Amino acid sequence: MSLEKIDLETLPQHIAIIMDGNGRWAQQQGKIRVRGHEAGAEAVRKVVEAAAKLGIKHLTLYAFSTENWLRPKNEVATLMGLLVKSLRRELERMTSNNIKLGAIGSLDKLPKNVQQELHEVIQKTANNSGTHLTLALSYGAREEIKQAVVEISKKVKNNIIPVESIDETIINEHLYTQHLPDVDLLIRTSGEVRISNFLLWQIAYAELYFTDELWPEFDEYSLHQAILSYQKRERRFGKTSEQLT
Ligand code: IPE
Ligand code: IPE
Ligand code: MG
Repeated sequence: MSLEKIDLETLPQHIAIIMDGNGRWAQQQGKIRVRGHEAGAEAVRKVVEAAAKLGIKHLTLYAFSTENWLRPKNEVATLMGLLVKSLRRELERMTSNNIKLGAIGSLDKLPKNVQQELHEVIQKTANNSGTHLTLALSYGAREEIKQAVVEISKKVKNNIIPVESIDETIINEHLYTQHLPDVDLLIRTSGEVRISNFLLWQIAYAELYFTDELWPEFDEYSLHQAILSYQKRERRFGKTSEQLT
């Protein structure tokens, strides 16, 4: 089994996943797109539990982008409904797996019942000390950076901070991800090789892993393969190989 080859000492601290391909999976099965999203929700549960089992500290899942609002109204409504249902259903499992839930994005744009359910699960899992699961919902990296610029500008204007103090740490502190470390491993499923407005700042030095598997097909084994690929790489951060030893 792939688990045996994974070095538990050098696990990525923060894994982020662009969960793509639900629609194509449904199409392949001759089903409507909604069935793909339902199967995608099952994959989320499996992958979250696999990450928790390994001891991954932070897992961030791209579940709905700012651009996804442009999809047909009924697909958006189904996704929102599915989200509420999954949150309700998964609370118990999250608790027994010691998972702490968080969320990033323009959360105020989500339907009220989604916001309520989300806040409830976040509160109820707040004291869990295992894997920190963050859902990116109505998330867009450009929007995130824009709001950080606005917040910092206001502080400068009101003499709360001087312009000279603005550095990478200050910028980090104004992103939705202020409590998260940089992404170590970014995974995208479905064969698309793009970032689609996800965590642009935070992936500056992430290792990228693309797989043709569609999101509903992605499972514990797939996660292990991604981590094994990550562990074979040399992260130099601009230095030479020799400097690392
Ligand atoms: C990912 O699957 C889920 C969301 C973006 C919400 P898609 O719905 O994008 O599936 P494809 O890309 O159409 O196959
Ligand atoms: C990215 O997938 C967003 C999520 C996975 C939530 P999309 O399917 O929306 O991305 P594009 O449109 O193919 O770039
Ligand atoms: Mg897609």
